[in-house]
Amino acid sequence: MAGGTTARGVPRQRMQTWCSGGCHTSPAKVGARLSEVGPPNGRVNGLVAAEAKPITKIFLCRRPGAQMESDRRLSRRRTPLSGAVVRSRPMLTLLPETVAAYVQDHAMVEPELLTELRAETVATLVDPQMQVGRVEGALLKLLVGLSRARRVLEIGTYSGYSALSMASGLPDGGTLTTCDLDPVPAAVAQRFFDRSPHGDKITLRLGPALETIAALAAEGASFDLAFLDADKENYSNYYEQILPLLPSGGLIVADNTLWSGRVLAPQSTSDHAIVAFNRLVAADERVESVLLPVRDGVTLARKR
Ligand SMILES: C[S@@+](CC[C@H](N)C(=O)[O-])C[C@H]1O[C@@H](n2cnc3c(N)ncnc32)[C@H](O)[C@@H]1O
Repeated sequence: MAGGTTARGVPRQRMQTWCSGGCHTSPAKVGARLSEVGPPNGRVNGLVAAEAKPITKIFLCRRPGAQMESDRRLSRRRTPLSGAVVRSRPMLTLLPETVAAYVQDHAMVEPELLTELRAETVATLVDPQMQVGRVEGALLKLLVGLSRARRVLEIGTYSGYSALSMASGLPDGGTLTTCDLDPVPAAVAQRFFDRSPHGDKITLRLGPALETIAALAAEGASFDLAFLDADKENYSNYYEQILPLLPSGGLIVADNTLWSGRVLAPQSTSDHAIVAFNRLVAADERVESVLLPVRDGVTLARKR
């Protein structure tokens, strides 16, 4: 990318470091990481990668326009292990802190493995606030159980908290396919999947989610529940791609649909993408839906 600054005065060099959609993994970093862990196809460090794809394809899911907006909201933080200064966007708490703490205290007891995963994520990875955490993790587990799902699809693995939460709600023989394009948090996830009693239900696929979903559709896969938690710009695309893969009664769960309240005054590309997604779902006669004010907003859409 060329040097200089953008119209908003953000140095282009710095813009390049952040992606939109609540995840700040740079395409360059992803490229470097892919080459660290191996080629982007076949089994890589225990991860199943999607079809071989040039790194440039991964770059396409990044929207520089959104980076400019989100960049202004980023706060500085030091990664504990490497000491590197990173910038991450704090998540706005929609509830008063005391009420949020009360809700947290009354969520299901967190399994020790998840407590350890949360701690390792905070200590070693960028943007640990991306984990769904204890309350939403408990909700996801309950939703899997209540819907009697046997086949779950997750878009956006990160370090695996939500995948492990949902897998623990699956019956024996149930399956969870989760996908991410960043092999660094994915490797942490796989390590914890391997230690979990529910890990053998989980398959992790590396690659851009749109391509992974297309590959799953081509393989004839279908799912009872899908959880959307990756780049916000593609939420509507994920929804349209996944809905045909669900039976009647199948459930789509989408995270961050209040987007820290920015849906009320959208500015960036990701803000507008969430607004468009919320409109799409609310008006969609193919589903029954509700937007729950849980954490950062969780939308449930049940296929008629
Ligand atoms: C909010 S985090 C997911 C958090 C996770 N569900 C949890 O609870 O720990 C979003 C993840 O989506 C991934 N991601 C972003 N864009 C993607 C894309 N186009 N395809 C696949 N994964 C993507 C990021 O690498 C990041 O790990």
